[in-house]
Amino acid sequence: MSPTTTDTAPHHEDGPTFPPSPEFVADAVAHEDLHEAAAADREAFWADQARTLLDWRTPFTQTLDWSGAPFAKWFADGELNVAENCLDRHVRAGNGDRVAIHFEGAPGDTRRITYAELTADVQRAANMLTDLGVGQGDRVVVYLPLIPEAVVTMLAVARIGAIHSVVFGGFSAESLRARIEDAEAKLVVTADGGWRRGAVSPLKPAVDEALEGEGTDSVEHVLVVNRGGNDIAWNERDLWWHDELAKADATHEAQAFPAETPLFILYTSGTTGKPKGIVHTSGGYLTQATYTHRNVFDMHPEKDVYWCTADIGWITGHSYVVYGPLSNGVTQVLYEGTPDEPEPGRWWDLVDSYGVTVLYTAPTAVRAAMKAGRQVPEARSLETLRLLGSVGEPINPEAWQWYRQVIGHDRTPIVDTWWQTETGAIMISALPGVTKLKPGAAQTPLPGITAEIVDEDGRRVDPGEGGYLTIADPWPSMARGIWNDPDRFVETYWSRFPGRYFAGDGARLDGQGDIWVQGRVDDVMNVSGHRLSTAEIESALVGHEGVAEAAVVGAADETTGQAVVAFVILTAEAAEGVDRDATAKELRDWVGKRIGAIAKPRQVVIVPELPKTRSGKIMRRLLRDAAEGRRIGDTTTLADPTIMATIAELM
Ligand code: WT7
Repeated sequence: MSPTTTDTAPHHEDGPTFPPSPEFVADAVAHEDLHEAAAADREAFWADQARTLLDWRTPFTQTLDWSGAPFAKWFADGELNVAENCLDRHVRAGNGDRVAIHFEGAPGDTRRITYAELTADVQRAANMLTDLGVGQGDRVVVYLPLIPEAVVTMLAVARIGAIHSVVFGGFSAESLRARIEDAEAKLVVTADGGWRRGAVSPLKPAVDEALEGEGTDSVEHVLVVNRGGNDIAWNERDLWWHDELAKADATHEAQAFPAETPLFILYTSGTTGKPKGIVHTSGGYLTQATYTHRNVFDMHPEKDVYWCTADIGWITGHSYVVYGPLSNGVTQVLYEGTPDEPEPGRWWDLVDSYGVTVLYTAPTAVRAAMKAGRQVPEARSLETLRLLGSVGEPINPEAWQWYRQVIGHDRTPIVDTWWQTETGAIMISALPGVTKLKPGAAQTPLPGITAEIVDEDGRRVDPGEGGYLTIADPWPSMARGIWNDPDRFVETYWSRFPGRYFAGDGARLDGQGDIWVQGRVDDVMNVSGHRLSTAEIESALVGHEGVAEAAVVGAADETTGQAVVAFVILTAEAAEGVDRDATAKELRDWVGKRIGAIAKPRQVVIVPELPKTRSGKIMRRLLRDAAEGRRIGDTTTLADPTIMATIAELM
C-alpha cells in the first residue's frame, strides 16, 4: 500500500485558476467568515449549524461525545424528526406550494410534486408502513428505480424511526440477498420494473430470487410499486403499494427521535469480499448534509432549480438527492433514465426545460459527454446554469475545462467535492463564492473539517508532498459503525494511523496547501465513480466451477476512470480444448449475475499462471501494467520471472 502506486493523476497546480466572479460573490451564501468561525471553535461552529439549519423538538445541550471513540455521538440529547425537517417545516413556513420534485421518467412521463404534496404522500406512506408492522429500528430494504416513490419510501421510513437500506437497482439478486440477510430486513420495497432505453427492466424477479435463498426469513412482506407494468410472479407475501397506500390514514403526526437514532444502512465495497453496511444516524448526518448542500451548492431555495444526477442507491443520492436538498427546501429535478436516451442530449434538454441552475454529476458523465461531442450541448441553451459540481473520482483537468467551457459557458464555478459513503457528506471542496478554483483539485477542507495528509508514520506532510488522506477530528455526519461488525469499523478506518480516520485515498498537498486527491491506495477500484472491491469480484470468479484462481485489477480507462480487468486460471477440466472468447464472455456474465452489471470485467484474460512472489503473494502491480498496456515493471522477485511475458502476449 503506497501512495505512489496510484499516483497517476496529473497535478496542474501551476495551471490556470478561476477566482469567483464579483456577481457570484455578491449573492453567495458562503463567505470567508465560515472558515473563521469554524477555526475559532470547531464544536461550537457545528452546534451553531445544527441549531440554525434544523428544527429540534428537544434542543441538545451536548455537542460531541467522543468518549467512545471512534464511535461518535453528536447532539445526543437532542430530539428531532428527520422527515419533518425535510417536509412539514417547509409547509408550515408557507412554502407548501414550492415544487419539491420535477420528476421525469425515462419514457418522458412527468410529475410535478410540491412540498405540500410530498409531505402528504410521506405521511400516508408512514401510516402504511406502521400498518404493515414496521416500527422504530426495523430495517426496510429499498430496491426501486429512480422514481418519486423511492424518495417517499426513504422519508416515510425515516419518519417512523425505522432504518432504510437502499440497494442500487443494478445489483443482482445475490447481492440483494446478502444485504437483506445482513440487515435482517422486515420489509422489501420494490417495483415490478423500471424504464431504461425504451424498455422495461424488471426488478421484482430479483427480489423473488433473493428471497428464495437462505437467510432471508426476516422478510414479512414485499411492497410492489406499479411502474413498469411488466408481468410478474405473485407470492403470498407480496402487496401492491397503491392498494396498501389507499387503506392507510392520510395524516401522520411525526414523533421526535433522539439524534443518534440510526437513519440508514448503506452497503459499500471494501477490501474484502463482503460489503460493509455503513451506518448513519439522524441529527449529525442531517446537519452536515444540509450545511454542505447549502454552502457548497450556494443554495437559494426560493429561486434555484437543483439537479443531482446520482441514483438513490448510492450515498450521493442519499445526501444530495434526498436529505440535503429537501432539508433545505429546494426545488429539484429527478430523472429516471440515462443521459443519452432516446439520444445524446437528453440531459441538456432537461436542464433547459426545467431551468436547472445547479448541476451535480460525475467526471465519468462529463467524459461521456465529451465523447458524444460538443455539438450536442451547443445545440441547447444551458443559460440557466450558474454552478456545476463534480463527485466520485478525481476530475481530470481536461474534463474540468470542457465542463466549464461547454456546459458552463466559461461562466460557472465548478466545485470538485471529495467525500465517501463513510463520511456521509462532503468533506473537501471549494466554496463557490470564496475559493479561487484549480481545475483537478478538491482543494480545501470545508469549514469544520480537519482533513490532513500524512506520511507512512502518520506525520503531516509539507506542501509539495504526497501521502495518505486522513481526517483528524470527528465530524457530524461520520459513519457510526459497520452494521453487525464494530471491530471491522475500528480495524478498517482507525487502525492504520492511530487517532485518525484513514479514508483509503492517496493525496497530495500542493505548494499553496491545496489538496489533490489521487485515488485509492487499497484494493478498491473506482469504476464510473462507483466503488468496487477486487476481492469481491475475485471471490465471485472463483465461485465459478471452471475457475481455479483469479486476480482482479483496476486499469485506467478513458471514460470510466478505471475498468475491471480479471486474470483467471481455469481448472484442468475447464481448460481442456477451451474456447477462450466464449469462456471470457461466460465469466463476464457470471460476475454480472453474481454482483451486478456494474462489476462486469471489461476484459477477462485466461492465463496459465499468475505473477506470484516466492511466498505466493500475487503482484497486482504487474497485472496492472499489463492491463494498461505499459511496459511490465520489475519481475525479478517473481517465482517465475517469465510469466509476465506470457501474460502480456495473451492481452
Ligand atoms: C471514494 C468514495 C462520495 C460519493 C461518491 C463515491 C473517490 C469521491 C472524489 C473526488 C477524488 C473522489 C475516493 C473515495 N472520490 N469523490 N471529488 N475526487 N476522488 O462514494 O462509493 O463511497 O467512494 O470515491 O476514492 O474514497 P464512495
